[in-house]
Order: sequence, then structure tokens, then C-alpha cells
Amino acid sequence: MVHGPNLNLLGVREPEIYGHESLEDINRRLEQLVQPLGIDIEFFQSNHEGELVDYLQSVRARADFVIINAGALTHYSIALHDALRALGKPVIEVHLSNPYAREEFRHHSYVAPVAMGGVFGLGSLSYRLAVLAAVARLAPDKVEPWA
Ligand code: DQA
Repeated sequence: MVHGPNLNLLGVREPEIYGHESLEDINRRLEQLVQPLGIDIEFFQSNHEGELVDYLQSVRARADFVIINAGALTHYSIALHDALRALGKPVIEVHLSNPYAREEFRHHSYVAPVAMGGVFGLGSLSYRLAVLAAVARLAPDKVEPWA
């Protein structure tokens, strides 16, 4: 679970758009959802494009799936696009808000072309639904009848 720039400020930053839950609240809930299913989830947040690229390179051997909210980097980072493509694992793009209902500069995603799908506009539920989709792909028997 990869979180990009400014997502460390969740709960404080523009709560009318991004909600009142902190990143830690969101991560903790996701952890609680997957733990009983015997699935490991790892969290990483950085405000730095290069650190995100380094992290994606480092998980090659241990990650089966990547869920990413790349924050603003979604809209301009070719480096992140390339790192996700190079990783070659299934990717789900997540956004708390609906970028397509916002400023024009948020309408383009460099993550989308390397993602199998995306969930956006549903607040922190976007993350939970992305995790459900990942588990449905990885271990469908664990989320019957959702899978
Ligand atoms: C965001 C949407 C982006 O446009 C913005 O730059 C963010 C958060 C979201 O989760 O809604 O930082 O990715």
C-alpha cells in the first residue's frame, strides 16, 4: 500500500475533501481487514518521488500486488509510471476524492495506464474496496461471495 505526497497530512489537510481520518487510522483499518485472511499488507508513504521509486524497486521479490494513491504525482510523474511498469505486478489506483470532478490538471493520470483498475471518490472506502479487489484477485476463496 503506497501513499504519495501529502497523504501523511490526512485528517488535517482539507478535511472537507479528504475526510477526518488520519493515514494511520486508514492503514490500521486495512490491516485489521486483511489480518484474519492471512494476508500481509505493507504500508509506505513518502513525499518524495525518488523514494517512492526506490520503494517500488525494493518490493519486487515480496509484493504480489500494489495499491497506490500517488497523490499529486499521479498527474505528472513519468518516473512513477515507469517504476510501476517495470515492477510488472498488478496495480490498483486509489484516490480519496474524485479527480475527474476537480481541477482539469487532476484529470490525467500517469498511474492509470499501468493499473488494472482504480477506485476513487469514495473517501477512505476507496482504499478498502481496492484491498477487497486485490484479495479477490489474490485469494478469491477468502472473500467469497464478493470475488
Ligand atoms: C488524491 C487526489 C490528487 O489529485 C491530490 O493531489 C492528492 C490526493 C486523492 O486521494 O484524492 O494528493 O490522490
